[in-house]
Amino acid sequence: MPNFQETAAEVATRQTAPGQPVKYLLHDGELVDYADARLHVLSTSLKYGVGVFEGFRAYWSEDDQQLYAFRVADHLKRLIDSMRVVEIDGPQDIGLLGDQLLGLIRANELRGNLHMRAQVFVDSKDGKPEDTGPSTVFMAAIPMGNYFGSTGLHVQISSWARLSDRSMPPRVKSIANYQNGRLALLEAKRNGYGAALLLTESGHVAEGAGYNVFMVRQGRLCTPPVTDSILEGITRDSVLHLARTELGIDVDIRPIDRTELYSADEVFVCGSAAEVNHVASVDRTTIGKGTAGDITRSLQKLYRQAVVGRVAGDQNWATPVYPS
Ligand SMILES: Cc1ncc(COP(=O)(O)O)c(C=O)c1O
Repeated sequence: MPNFQETAAEVATRQTAPGQPVKYLLHDGELVDYADARLHVLSTSLKYGVGVFEGFRAYWSEDDQQLYAFRVADHLKRLIDSMRVVEIDGPQDIGLLGDQLLGLIRANELRGNLHMRAQVFVDSKDGKPEDTGPSTVFMAAIPMGNYFGSTGLHVQISSWARLSDRSMPPRVKSIANYQNGRLALLEAKRNGYGAALLLTESGHVAEGAGYNVFMVRQGRLCTPPVTDSILEGITRDSVLHLARTELGIDVDIRPIDRTELYSADEVFVCGSAAEVNHVASVDRTTIGKGTAGDITRSLQKLYRQAVVGRVAGDQNWATPVYPS
C-alpha cells in the first residue's frame, strides 16, 4: 500500500504561518485532503506527458486586510485555450472555475502571498496517447514568497533551442513543454548561472524556463513577439499595459538578437511566479551597472501596486478573495 502520509518536513514547507497548514486541494471541484490528490499511474497524462496547467498568484494587502487574486479569469481563459490546442476535453466555465479556486483559498483560510495552480489531466486508466478524456482538474493554493532573490539574475543563453509552434506550441501551458525549459535550466545551473534564456531555432531571443523577457536598448523598451516561440505571458501583457498607460512608454514588439541583450541598458524577466526581476548579466556580460535600471524599477513598483488593485484599476485585475 503506497504511503501518502507527508513527513513533518513536507508539512512544514506548506505552512503559511506557524500552525496554519494548507489542508485542502480541489479535485474536480471537491475539497480533498492535501495528501490525498491522486492521478492514476497508467493515465494518459502520466504515460505520455499530456496535461495543461496555469500558475498564478494572490497577494495579501496589509492596508486593506484583503487577499487579491491576480488576473484569475485571464489565466483560466488561457487554461481553456491550452486544452483546445493540445486536445483535452475539460471544463469550459471560467466563472465556475474561478469561484472554486477562490473558495479553496477561503477553505484553507490563507491570508498571505500565495501561488495557485490549476491542472487538467487525462485520467484514462491504461490510457492511449490520443485519449482526450476523461479529464480531471486539480487546483491548489500554496503560500509563496519571492521566487528569485532581489540581487539580479545571472542568465545563460542556452545551447538548447526553444521549442516551436511547428513541434510543441510554446503558446500554451502544456506540461510536456517544460522539459525544454528544464534542460536549459539544468545546463545553466551546471555552468554556475541562476537562470536560462532560450533562442528560437532561427536564433532570436524567445523566453526563459518560466518567464518572458524585456530589454531596454537605445532608449526603447522591447520584447519578442508572440510568434517568436513564447508563452503569451499574462505578466508580459500586464507590463506592456503598465508601460504604455502608466509610464507613457512606447514598447517595440520585435525580434531580438542575442547580442542585443549584451549591449542593452536594462534586461528583465517577468512571469506570474517570477514577477518582474532584473537581469544582472547575460553570458557573464554585465547589463548596465548590474543593478535594476530606472525603467525596470518603475515597472516593478507599478506591478506590485497593480497586483493589489492600486493601479490599472479599470482593468479589474485584482479580485478580492474575502468578503469585505
Ligand atoms: C515558459 C513560460 N514563459 C512565460 C511565463 C510567464 O507567463 P505568465 O506571466 O502568464 O505567468 C511562464 C510562466 O508561467 C512560463 O512558464
